[in-house]
Amino acid sequence: MSSVSAPPRTSFSRMDQSTREDWQILGAEFMHLAGQLPGRVIAHLKLLQGDFGGFPIDRLQHCLQTATLAQRDGRDEEYVVCALLHDIGDTLGSYNHPDIAAAILQPFVSEENLWMVKHHGIFQGHYFFHHIGMDRDMREQFKDHPCYERTAEFCALYDNPAFDAGADTLPIGHFEPMLRRVFATPRRSVYKTESL
Ligand SMILES: [Fe+2]
Ligand SMILES: [Fe+2]
Repeated sequence: MSSVSAPPRTSFSRMDQSTREDWQILGAEFMHLAGQLPGRVIAHLKLLQGDFGGFPIDRLQHCLQTATLAQRDGRDEEYVVCALLHDIGDTLGSYNHPDIAAAILQPFVSEENLWMVKHHGIFQGHYFFHHIGMDRDMREQFKDHPCYERTAEFCALYDNPAFDAGADTLPIGHFEPMLRRVFATPRRSVYKTESL
């Protein structure tokens, strides 16, 4: 007989039949799940390892290199974590990868950093869209936006140069503690976890 008890479960068949007591169980389970979020994000980031897609370095190395450049340039932890995760959506959001990173980061980062991550794809296009028959100045549609300069700078300083096979790049373990700190406290969510 196992000494490990299974997690508690509720027994309703429709959510409108759930009770306050059920939601005490569900709330505790949610807190457990939410607490493991940083580990899942890191595991998902690691899916980019070995995925070169024709690039000189794989997509994980590109993410690490972008974050390394940002940190060595003196950016704060939240910014560095945004840099680390900016391309995490390449696997699940192959046609809209910045939206995936933005959705993951949204509860934890400033409006400015969120906008930067969400729009980095169009801004990074400045460096290659003209090679694939697209408008490299597509980002100019945002020229009057308050986050234009921040996003253009992110691409110029950290995303664009982060394809260097010879670069000295920090490992994922270096960034894990700061990722856990940034993900420790959601700033905004429709779910008020503290009341569960
Ligand atoms: Fe990207
Ligand atoms: Fe990138």
